[in-house]
Amino acid sequence: PKPVTLRTLVEHRANASAFSCLTAYDASLARCADAAGVDVLLVGDSLGMVLQGHSDTLAVTLDDMIYHTRCVASGRQHSLLMADLPFMTNVTTEQILHSAGALMRAGAQMVKLEGEAWLAEAVTALARRGVPVCVHMGLTPQSVHAFGGYRVQGRDEVQAQHLIEAAQTLEAAGAAVILLECVPRVLAQRLHAAVSVPVIGIGAGPEVDGQILVMHDMLGATSGRVPRFVRNFLAGSGSLQDAFRAYHEAVRERRFPADEHCF
Ligand code: KIV
Ligand code: NA
Repeated sequence: PKPVTLRTLVEHRANASAFSCLTAYDASLARCADAAGVDVLLVGDSLGMVLQGHSDTLAVTLDDMIYHTRCVASGRQHSLLMADLPFMTNVTTEQILHSAGALMRAGAQMVKLEGEAWLAEAVTALARRGVPVCVHMGLTPQSVHAFGGYRVQGRDEVQAQHLIEAAQTLEAAGAAVILLECVPRVLAQRLHAAVSVPVIGIGAGPEVDGQILVMHDMLGATSGRVPRFVRNFLAGSGSLQDAFRAYHEAVRERRFPADEHCF
């Protein structure tokens, strides 16, 4: 298959076809997901939870992210590689540029930052320097302690309108992609209609362009409470690669997420 690039994601949006994304943290499983056709691999700071065993993502350092980005970069072939800026590497625009530069040098092809309209200046600075940016909005796990838990965001109209306007501001600032986590399906639909860049959702319903899950969640390998928006794709599959392919096909054919995965 052809390598997936930012242009591929833009084409998916233009053609109203869906693309699949999964987190990956190591070369072996990255290679397996890549071979199954998964379009985007995210080195997520969720590695603080699924690999390091913490209850949130705050302990993850830029060095951790660089290490795992290198690992995934050596496993991927055609999937687009995105990497997260971890907690508190976004204090100044200069620090954001430095952190993003380190991730790109480690093999990332796009960086993801959690935040809202206040990121506009940094998004422009990155875009000018050739770094494609995805802004992660809605439930941003680095703010879990400010939210008072992992809770659905944008439930009331004031919050919803605020998120939509922030997404428009970020698009104007040069954001290439928006990622929306844990928002009501109808809000994701409205936000998608209000911007023209590709939108990736997790717990955001089917009316967006891309879907993402934490790999360990969709393999049933996470301990503790599994979020409502997760489906176990290993159950009913004969191998890891079958599970990744089942996920990819369910996303492409818009069979996932189903009603029971939405808010
Ligand atoms: O870190 C992560 O895995 C993420 C996804 C859940 C979007 O940011
Ligand atoms: Na993340």
